[in-house]
Amino acid sequence: MHIDILTLFPEFFVGPLGQSILKRAQTQGIVTIDCLNLRDFALDRHRVTDDRPFGGGPGMVLKIEPLVRAIGWVRERRPQVRVILLSPQGRLFTQGMAQELARLENLLLICGHYEGVDERLQYFIDAEISLGDFILTGGEIPALAIVDAVTRLLPGALGDENSAAEDSFKDNLLKGPQYTRPREFAGYTVPEVLLSGDHQRIARWRRQEALRRTWERRPDLLVRANLTPEDLAFLATLAAATPDPGEFA
Ligand SMILES: C[S@@+](CC[C@H](N)C(=O)[O-])C[C@H]1O[C@@H](n2cnc3c(N)ncnc32)[C@H](O)[C@@H]1O
Repeated sequence: MHIDILTLFPEFFVGPLGQSILKRAQTQGIVTIDCLNLRDFALDRHRVTDDRPFGGGPGMVLKIEPLVRAIGWVRERRPQVRVILLSPQGRLFTQGMAQELARLENLLLICGHYEGVDERLQYFIDAEISLGDFILTGGEIPALAIVDAVTRLLPGALGDENSAAEDSFKDNLLKGPQYTRPREFAGYTVPEVLLSGDHQRIARWRRQEALRRTWERRPDLLVRANLTPEDLAFLATLAAATPDPGEFA
């Protein structure tokens, strides 16, 4: 997969993209990532990329021409590219969207800044994605979050293929609790079943803990979860014991 990131601050990405799994995925050729400087697509010799908003008001707005020039430059080289603007007004980013994006060959992530981008950019992009209901100074952190979430889903990126398959939000369930050595810490012990060596029992316990955790913390997810009759029976026992899961929501 190839990802282009269009930004006013390409240096922002140097550290995070040079660490851990993102670094390894690039070294192994699983993903290639280019950070494109928006200024390189400015038309004038001062490389101006922003201007004051029409109608007045605070801040600066990213100009349409350099943005569209950059999109054209990428589309010429990668005709199949999906062009995404990071925006607090876009669709909320989810694990499902990460899975969808991980199936693409090419992705262009556009980072807004200042007060945002000229509204006419909507005619030149494919989608807008938001990281959440809060305002960041720029699209760089959301772009990085998307690159990270997508890259770890690419075949070979995690080394252990099963690792991503068991993550929270896969099948709309949260992952249950995990433990490592020591067996006892400050009087707190590891559930006995995990030390039993009985793989069937462990798998059943893990499934039930995932259901319990989702029931307790994100009952909204259960509506879209793929549940077996055994899962439903287990949830019924939880419902009987805790009639109001929403009280801590
Ligand atoms: C300060 S924000 C602009 C906010 C805009 N004035 C508004 O009220 O909708 C600047 C840029 O940061 C990025 N950004 C900020 N918050 C974001 C979020 N929650 N998700 C995705 N991108 C975000 C977008 O690219 C945006 O154009």
